[in-house]
Amino acid sequence: MIAKPARPLPKSFHVKSFGCQMNAYDGARMGELLESQGMVAAEADDADLVLLNTCHIRERAAEKVYSDIGRLAKRGREAGRDKPMIAVAGCVAQAEGAEISRRAPAVDVVVGPQAYHRLPELIARAATGGEALDTDMPAVSKFDALPKRRRQGPSAFLTVQEGCDKFCTYCVVPYTRGAEISRPWGQIIDEAKALVDAGAREITLLGQNVNAWAHDGRGLHDVIEELAKMPALARIRYMTSHPNDMADGLIAAHRDIEKLMPFLHLPVQSGSDRILKAMNRSHNAASYLRLIDRVRAARPDIGVSGDFIVGFPGESDADFEETLSLVRAIGHAFAFSFKYSPRPGTPAASMAEQVPAALMDERLQRLQALIAEQQYAFNRATLGKSCAVLIERDGKLPGQKLGKSPWLQSVLLDGGAIGDLVEVEIIQAGPNSLQGSAKILAAA
Ligand code: SAH
Ligand code: SF4
Ligand code: F3S
Repeated sequence: MIAKPARPLPKSFHVKSFGCQMNAYDGARMGELLESQGMVAAEADDADLVLLNTCHIRERAAEKVYSDIGRLAKRGREAGRDKPMIAVAGCVAQAEGAEISRRAPAVDVVVGPQAYHRLPELIARAATGGEALDTDMPAVSKFDALPKRRRQGPSAFLTVQEGCDKFCTYCVVPYTRGAEISRPWGQIIDEAKALVDAGAREITLLGQNVNAWAHDGRGLHDVIEELAKMPALARIRYMTSHPNDMADGLIAAHRDIEKLMPFLHLPVQSGSDRILKAMNRSHNAASYLRLIDRVRAARPDIGVSGDFIVGFPGESDADFEETLSLVRAIGHAFAFSFKYSPRPGTPAASMAEQVPAALMDERLQRLQALIAEQQYAFNRATLGKSCAVLIERDGKLPGQKLGKSPWLQSVLLDGGAIGDLVEVEIIQAGPNSLQGSAKILAAA
């Protein structure tokens, strides 16, 4: 990193997170850390420090950070205004390290996802004009060094597992997040208590492979069972899971634990066994379907969601048709789908037979149309029924509130208060959201 002139320590900050829920969690914790140092949160335009918490999963996500840096750097060229201190955190920071400030000299701090507890020192170093780069994966857990959780609304994230040992051939996560680690039991329970004390009524347990969480002979279902004992906590969710780590105990938890919401995000990626093998996914389409059958036997109303990649190298029309067949067989409540993006350093990036962009576009459109159809059907099936909704925030219209159904659908209401868990009747179902009747609004 290039030496720079000294500058005052920032007094205000803004965190912008890209990417997955784990990045959102990290963003929240970095914000809490900076607040504990006496800094105050501000809008990006006014902040002395802007922290870009980046994602490296696909090229488009990774490149976005450079246009943001360009915009922020421009602020320094406007009359009477200083450029904010710019920090790059998250998975691009981990993957590109010092390369970032070579390519974008306006960047003052680079900090990886396992080193962000050291942000205060890095900011201080950047303020003296020194080098401020830290992409270590220290043995001492960052979690021990972070301040206690603060209030963040009714629905909170809690990272319990990090990293990935699966090495799917297209994916950067094992490189950007490191090896799989499970946070210790006590640390998780303490953080959950702090979140509930701070007003959380729902906790989503997070991990790149959250269902691989294991500690002292316990599994994720034990964590869920323990959290379910907290009276003020109404709902528990978890994501993202890997099909190979879907233990019997976790499937049974969907049957036995009422507070565990009936929703499962379980990415399958492709319906072609040939492609799944090339992806190093270690499951096939049939084993995935059997797994879904077992989960549905435990919890018949469960909403199934997933992730799909179209255009993996070598994917033929026939392979893609198998993906469509698998999607038809599953019946989704929701699903993400992406065009394959070659990532530097991953085995798939150098595979022959990269699929042309136009063909990927066409496949993505067909897949997304099918998923949208399934999602709309899933939403319509709730019409006329009543369900519990956790109100999370204000809607766009005056008086309107927005909450989530047990199946993670957005529900618009014209009443209620943020943090309320209410029983509502679904009176309208759209492709992307539901409308609940305020008439039978009652605290559940
Ligand atoms: N650990 C999770 C999710 C990791 S990333 C899992 O294995 O399911 C989230 C999603 O991004 C993946 O499920 C995959 O669908 C997608 N993804 C990952 N790498 C990608 C790439 N190189 N190109 C396109 N999509 C990708
Ligand atoms: Fe990436 Fe595969 Fe690990 Fe998921 S399981 S994070 S897709 S390597
Ligand atoms: Fe992106 Fe890193 Fe999450 S690459 S998806 S922010 S783990």
